Amino acid sequence: MIAQKPPMGWNSWNTFGTNITEELIFQIADLMAEQGYRERGYEYLVIDDCWSLKQRDENGNLAADPDKFPHGMKAVADYVHAKGLKFGMYSCAGVMTCAGYPSSYDHEFQDAKLFADWGVDFLKYDFCNFPENADCINRYQTMSMALKASGREILFSACNWGREDCWNWMRSIGAHMYRSTGDIFDNFKSFMSIFQSQLKHFCQSGPYCFNDIDMLTVGMYNQGNVAIGKPCTDGEYRMQFSLWCLAGVPLMLGADLRSLNPQMKELLLNRELIAIDQDAECRPPYLVGSQCVGVAVEDKENAVEPLEMVPDQLLTFLKHLSGNEFVIAYYNLFQEQQDITCIFADIGLPYASGYGFSMKDVFTGEDIGVHRDYHTVSVPGHDCRLYRCSLVKCEN
Ligand code: GAL
Repeated sequence: MIAQKPPMGWNSWNTFGTNITEELIFQIADLMAEQGYRERGYEYLVIDDCWSLKQRDENGNLAADPDKFPHGMKAVADYVHAKGLKFGMYSCAGVMTCAGYPSSYDHEFQDAKLFADWGVDFLKYDFCNFPENADCINRYQTMSMALKASGREILFSACNWGREDCWNWMRSIGAHMYRSTGDIFDNFKSFMSIFQSQLKHFCQSGPYCFNDIDMLTVGMYNQGNVAIGKPCTDGEYRMQFSLWCLAGVPLMLGADLRSLNPQMKELLLNRELIAIDQDAECRPPYLVGSQCVGVAVEDKENAVEPLEMVPDQLLTFLKHLSGNEFVIAYYNLFQEQQDITCIFADIGLPYASGYGFSMKDVFTGEDIGVHRDYHTVSVPGHDCRLYRCSLVKCEN
């Protein structure tokens, strides 16, 4: 069974766009296997758009670009599998991919069979150049059937950018994950708006069919294909990665793993954060409340829009984990350091209950002891703090 937990892996698009080659994919596969990524759960290595020739071959099949993939896609799949990883590829529900390559409209069964023959384990299925009079839901349904008929277990990663309220029907049509937003760009405003836009939909994300809020940009520092706006700081990357983990969504890395700096590698391999993402109960985060401390902050460039869900700029989330454990997470959207307080009565744990939380810092691993009634922490601007908490009885 696939996709019981949010799928994890790496995708070529954010950094490399069209600049993908067999050599690059082999290097990434080596790194994923040798530097701890595979061991932590990052198992899918996915090639995005731009892998094929601009024309189908004489049999009407999609064909790998021999300049980029001289030994064909089966050889790439074999290499990836030999590293203990799973292999993902990309096509599109329209008549051409977003970058103008042939795609699977009216070729669904033929293409799915070809992918299965190559040893593909994951198909990202995009939505560009979709005929105006065609039925979106029906076409995702068709590719879902084609994958099922292909004779191979293939994870269906549907990507229609949230069109037609896709969170309401992607599970019914057999998708294992569904892109619910437009593309991420490597800046604070982009990832915050994406997260906020899906906050009300995460309750529809769970085992076998996860809301996918796009590949991570953590560690990219504006190198690559999705560099727009101000590069992220390390604190902003901590926010991005931990928000994805709180949401329990797929963790698809987008950075060049060959040049990732040690801090970012440590962040992406953080066991506690990954455990929060992969928690068996897959519960969505609960927005405890947001506090506006009344500090006038003129920061138009970083203003997050739309703010329909979250009007203020200090956010506190509670996430229930399995086994009576919880996460309390604080996000400071101001530029300046701020104190953030979680009053436990607001999350159903009043002082009078006699219970408190034993708390551990998710980033440092430090045990910060038992807190009762409330917890306050000072959070640097555009940064976050997360605590893994377990319920404990307190002395009166
Ligand atoms: C977009 C998609 C991106 C990437 C790109 C490739 O539609 O959202 O994630 O796949 O196409 O051209």
